[in-house]
Amino acid sequence: MKIDTKLTKISRNVKKQKGFINPGIYKGSTMIFNSFGDYIKDITNDDDRTTLYGINKNPSVDQLEKAITKLYNCHDTIIASSGLAALVIPFFTYLKKDDEVLINDSVYSPTRTFCEKILKNYGVKIKYFHPIKNIKNFAKNINTKTKLIFLESPGTATFEILDIPFITKIAKKNNIPTVLDNTWASPLFCNPKKLGINIIIDAGTKYINGHSDVLIGFVSSDKKNSRKIRTTAKTLGMCPGSEEVYLALRGIPTLNLRMKQIEKNTLNLANELLQHSLIDKVYHPALQSFPNHHIWKRDFTGSSGLFAFSLKKKYSIKSIEKFYNKLKIFKLGYSWGGFESLITFPPLSKRTFKSNVKGNLIRVYCGLEDSKDQINDILNALKVLK
Ligand SMILES: Cc1ncc(COP(=O)(O)O)c(C=O)c1O
Repeated sequence: MKIDTKLTKISRNVKKQKGFINPGIYKGSTMIFNSFGDYIKDITNDDDRTTLYGINKNPSVDQLEKAITKLYNCHDTIIASSGLAALVIPFFTYLKKDDEVLINDSVYSPTRTFCEKILKNYGVKIKYFHPIKNIKNFAKNINTKTKLIFLESPGTATFEILDIPFITKIAKKNNIPTVLDNTWASPLFCNPKKLGINIIIDAGTKYINGHSDVLIGFVSSDKKNSRKIRTTAKTLGMCPGSEEVYLALRGIPTLNLRMKQIEKNTLNLANELLQHSLIDKVYHPALQSFPNHHIWKRDFTGSSGLFAFSLKKKYSIKSIEKFYNKLKIFKLGYSWGGFESLITFPPLSKRTFKSNVKGNLIRVYCGLEDSKDQINDILNALKVLK
């Protein structure tokens, strides 16, 4: 079955949905037992995370979990109330006092904040490694205390591509579980399991939903790790909102269509900016000139809507404000993955390794507006900086 067909089928079960094409919305905490006998079975079950209760059981949550599991070709998926809520689960699952975790320095900033503000308080040591420099010596970062490797590729804001198979090979040798935040690629443009990853994070808030009206997150894992992940998530009381589950399920059939158009629009803009006289660098892994482009080509099957460019000069906040005020299509706002194009100006100040970005760094997300309109919008706004 080709992907477009698969996407329309995996998230639906018309029989269970009483003939409707789309799934229902199940709301609630309490679920009534079929019989007294079932209740007795339930209270004698020593795993209270599998009991008959809204956090643990819900027909549409189950449907969405199964759909994402199929898309990531893994063993199980749990759903959290946001991408951020999802990505903390592996940290809580594998780390305890005096353990160490390895993270690429270009990780999503709130992942770092979680590690610095919460994880450190539990006595866990956080070690950041540069995503490209010195990567041949990656194994040297590992010692007997290293209990988790958390990766994000491309990295946030600067989009460095990691050599994931190289890292997972070393991790396997040392029996360390690996996590990849795969939100940028979605299940369509990267298959992390093939690259040796054990646990996959996807902030469904972005592409799976695709309309900027939902917060939701997924943790998909292989057979070895899925039980542990589910136990942590359910013990922490993680569960998604019912409308959010419905909307995420509604996003799946159009995922490929949206991703392909977003990819095209983004490449058009990135290539145009490459030639602009005010621009120093364009940070987009699918551009031939981008470092580790060959690794992206080997490990990914497409590129998505988020990239960045840096200016040759460092302009004042006032000039950047003027540039922003000229834009008509790209709006200033966090997150991405919807139909609307967005722009932000990410600071890199929290990073451990000093960045070599020269002028201002500008992150863009290309949505589904007309590609020429998107290009003209940015080119027109850049004129104020001349
Ligand atoms: C790479 C990445 N991972 C995770 C998240 C978190 O997703 P959410 O906004 O659903 O918490 C984001 C959000 O921007 C992100 O960019």
